[in-house]
Amino acid sequence: MSEHITVIESVKLDDAKDQIILLDQTQLPNKKVFLELKTVEDVWDAIYHLKVRGAPAIGIAAAYGIYLVTKNSDASSYEEFAQTFSKMKEKLASSRPTAVNLFWALDRMEARLEREKGQSIDQIKQALKEEADLIKKEDEEVCEAIGQYALELLEPGMGLLTHCNAGTIATAKYGTALAPIYLGQEKGYDFKVFADETRPLLQGARLTAWELDQAGVDVTLICDNMASIVMKQGKVQAVLVGCDRVAANGDAANKIGTSGVAILAKHYGIPFYVCAPMSTIDLKSKTGEDIEIELRPEEEIKTKWYSEPMAPEAVKTYNPAFDVTDSSLITAIITEKGIVYPDYEENLAKIFAE
Ligand code: MRU
Repeated sequence: MSEHITVIESVKLDDAKDQIILLDQTQLPNKKVFLELKTVEDVWDAIYHLKVRGAPAIGIAAAYGIYLVTKNSDASSYEEFAQTFSKMKEKLASSRPTAVNLFWALDRMEARLEREKGQSIDQIKQALKEEADLIKKEDEEVCEAIGQYALELLEPGMGLLTHCNAGTIATAKYGTALAPIYLGQEKGYDFKVFADETRPLLQGARLTAWELDQAGVDVTLICDNMASIVMKQGKVQAVLVGCDRVAANGDAANKIGTSGVAILAKHYGIPFYVCAPMSTIDLKSKTGEDIEIELRPEEEIKTKWYSEPMAPEAVKTYNPAFDVTDSSLITAIITEKGIVYPDYEENLAKIFAE
């Protein structure tokens, strides 16, 4: 399914030059700038400032990041190497708290390191590169599978609403919530997509509208407070969103505003689908209450996108980057292993056991 999608690799390893080439998503849609990340600070900064964003892409950046910054370690023993690894892991893990893919990818890299104990340091470094490559490659396959399953739930001509950006640049390729839209595009499904602008960082306007428009998808940008009217007018037959962490009971954290969209969808009787790679499902979080919600600086609300401040300087702000959609509002969770319906506690556990 590559014909219709803007194939931009948002995270790429340039091993020969000891750097990660990263699409700076904060500059889209106006400029396509690629950054060269070399140090642990570079990678931390890129994640914290959302130059790379979207749960799967954050995981991929962290995996390549930990490979890169430990590759240059001159440790001569496994213990010394493992010590550097764990320091770097701790640093990268402190960049953002909500998307579990960050921790999932770092833990997976650490597990590989531990499996390689007994090998030479050079062999260990090679194995870490292989693991990071694998995380990225698997994500491509995962997204395509999610797209195929999600498409089974949709029909040609449907109006679809999405929030934030769960597209190609948020993943290795294809996206999660946008994958069925690209697949449908190839089959001539002629979806009409509504993209919420997604305040305050405008991922819907800057990234989703841009991606879909480039792919020739019929996309209409709306402000976040317009979802209700388009639903009421019968223009939306399904909502598709990505997620940053799904708890064992199906509660799903995603970009701030998602839970409001889910409440509206329930009100209007519109199915609400969460597209979730298995790597985003965190059975250790029992419910949404266990998911840490990132708080971000006030300038994102007041000044960031404006030539003049849009609020009194002294006014207090509250800027949670994510919210949790209660599992009772979710029609189905679409994973690469299949479509999961309620009871989520039982059915997510089952799909993990398979
Ligand atoms: O703050 P962001 O832009 O990283 O938030 C991203 C989202 O909420 C996405 O919907 C989620 O990570 C899924 S991306 C496939």
